[in-house]
Amino acid sequence: MSVWGELAKNQRLAEGRHILDLFAADESRGTDFTVRAGEMVLDYAKTNIDPDARRLLLALAHECGVEDRRADMFGGVRINETEARAVLHIAQRAGDEAVISVDGVDVMARLRAIRARAYGFAQDVRQGRFRGQGGAITDVVNIGIGGSDLGPAMATLALAPWHDGPRVHYVSNVDGAHIADTLRGLDPETTLVIVASKTFTTIETMTNARTAREWMGARVSDPAAQFAAVSTALDKTTAFGIAQKRVFGFEDWVGGRYSMWGPIGLGLMMAVGAQNFEAMLAGGRAMDAHFCEAPLEQNMPVLLALVGLWHNQICGHATRAVLPYDQRLARLPAYLQQLEMESNGKRVDMAGRDLDRQSGPVVWGEPGTNGQHAFYQLIHQGTRVVPCEFLLAAQGHEPDLAHQHRLLAANCLAQSEALLRGRTLEEARAIMAAKGLEGEELDRQARHRVFPGNRPSTTLVYPQLTPFTLGQIIALYEHRVFVEGVVLGINSFDQWGVELGKELAVALAPLLEGDAADAASKDPSTRHLLAYLRAHQSA
Ligand code: F6P
Repeated sequence: MSVWGELAKNQRLAEGRHILDLFAADESRGTDFTVRAGEMVLDYAKTNIDPDARRLLLALAHECGVEDRRADMFGGVRINETEARAVLHIAQRAGDEAVISVDGVDVMARLRAIRARAYGFAQDVRQGRFRGQGGAITDVVNIGIGGSDLGPAMATLALAPWHDGPRVHYVSNVDGAHIADTLRGLDPETTLVIVASKTFTTIETMTNARTAREWMGARVSDPAAQFAAVSTALDKTTAFGIAQKRVFGFEDWVGGRYSMWGPIGLGLMMAVGAQNFEAMLAGGRAMDAHFCEAPLEQNMPVLLALVGLWHNQICGHATRAVLPYDQRLARLPAYLQQLEMESNGKRVDMAGRDLDRQSGPVVWGEPGTNGQHAFYQLIHQGTRVVPCEFLLAAQGHEPDLAHQHRLLAANCLAQSEALLRGRTLEEARAIMAAKGLEGEELDRQARHRVFPGNRPSTTLVYPQLTPFTLGQIIALYEHRVFVEGVVLGINSFDQWGVELGKELAVALAPLLEGDAADAASKDPSTRHLLAYLRAHQSA
C-alpha cells in the first residue's frame, strides 16, 4: 500500500477517536508533539495525528523528495520549471558570507550592492538628507499590489513599535477610493512615492502611479524627483521617468509573493531603519538554517506542512484559519492568502497532468480576539471542521498593559482548549438545570449549548513579536508552502491562474466607456451587468 493509502487508513481509525484519547494514552504528548526552532515553539498536540500518522507523514515527505528539492532550491536550480527560473528568495536574506549562484554565476554581489543602496536611500530619507521640494519627507506612499504590497504592508504594521521614520502608507487597489483616501491630507511637497512592481506593467499599480504623479505635479515642479521605483524591469522604470539612482532592481528568481526581504521592503526600511530590517532578515535566515539542518521529525516548516497536508489532503478539511492573537499581525492572514493560495492553488502537477488530489486549502483568518466575536461560532459549532492555527507572543510591547496581554493569551489558550474539549450534552444539561430549566425545555436548550469538541488546532508561540521573530514566522510559512507543494508535486512558484482575469479586464475596460462599446461577444449575464453599469454611470 502507498504511504497515501496507509495515511487514509490511519485517518479512518482517527475518525472514531477523540484527540483527548491521544493525550490519555500518552503522557508525553503535550511535549512530544511540539517542535522548536530557536525560541519559537509549534504545538501540534491538539490534532488527531497519532505517532503512526506522524511516522507516515514524515515518510511521505521523505518519499516525495522534500530534502532533495530543498537542496535544489537553496542550490539555485531552476525549480520553477514553467517559467524556467531559479527560486532564490532565500538569497535576499542570506548573510555576508553566503555564496549562491545560478548556472554557476554568483548572484550575491549584485544583490548585496542593491541592498546597500536601498539601505542608504532609506537612511537618507529617514535622516532628512533626501528631501522633498517642500522639506524633509514626512510620508512615503508605496504603490504596489499582491507581493509588491502585502508583505511590506503586513510587516510595517507588525513592526509598529520600531517605527521612527516617516509615515508609510500602502496603496494597492485600482479602486480610486484607495489612492484618493490615502493622498487626502498628505503634502505633495514632503511625500515620497515608491512604485513597487516586479514587472512594472501591472495595471493597478501603473494606474495608481500615474494618478500619484498627477497629484504631485499639481503642486511640485518636478514630481519625478520624488518618485522611486523597485522593479526587475529597469527599462520600464526609466520610461516612466524615474531616475536610475532611485531605482532598485531585483532578479526574476525572486517571486513576487516572496519578495519582501529585498528592495520591495523599501517602505519598511524607511519606517523602521536598516538595523531593524537586518534583524528581520536574520530571523528569516535562522529559519532557513533550521529548515536545512534539522532532521525532518524536528523540522518546524516540515511538520507545519505535514499537519496542513493531514488536515487538507487526508481529513478533507477544505479551509484553514490563521488566527494571530497579535493585533499587529492583522494583515498576516491576507499575506498568507497570497503566499499559500497563489503558490499551491494549482490543478496540474509539474508534468502538466491533472492533480489526482485536492490543491492547497483556502486560507483565511483575522486576529483574535476579534474573530471570537464574529466567526468562531461556526468554528465551534458549525458542521464543517476548520483546523485553526493560533499564533501568540508570550509578551506584548506595552508594559503598562501587561494585564491586557495576559487576557489575550488566556483567550487564545481558551479557544484551543474549547475546540479540543467541547462541551457534552450532560454538561450542557447540568448548566441548564442549574438555571432552573427542566423537562423538554431543558433538553431543547441544552442541545443548543453542546460543543462537539475534538476540533484540531496548532499553536505557534514566541517570546515577543520583534523584527527577528517576524522574519522567523514569514520564513516558516514560506518553507511550509514549499514542502506542501513538493508533496503535492506541483510548481509553487508560478501563478498562471491570475492571467485570464487580467486579460479579460483589459478587454472589458473599453466596454464600460460610453455607449459606443460592442459587448456582443460577451455572455448574457456580463452584457446585462455592463448595460446596468453604463446606464448608471452618468446618472
Ligand atoms: O497577479 C498576480 C501577481 O503577478 C502577483 O504574483 C504579484 O505579486 C502581483 O501580481 C504584482 O505583480 P508586480 O509586482 O509585477 O506588479
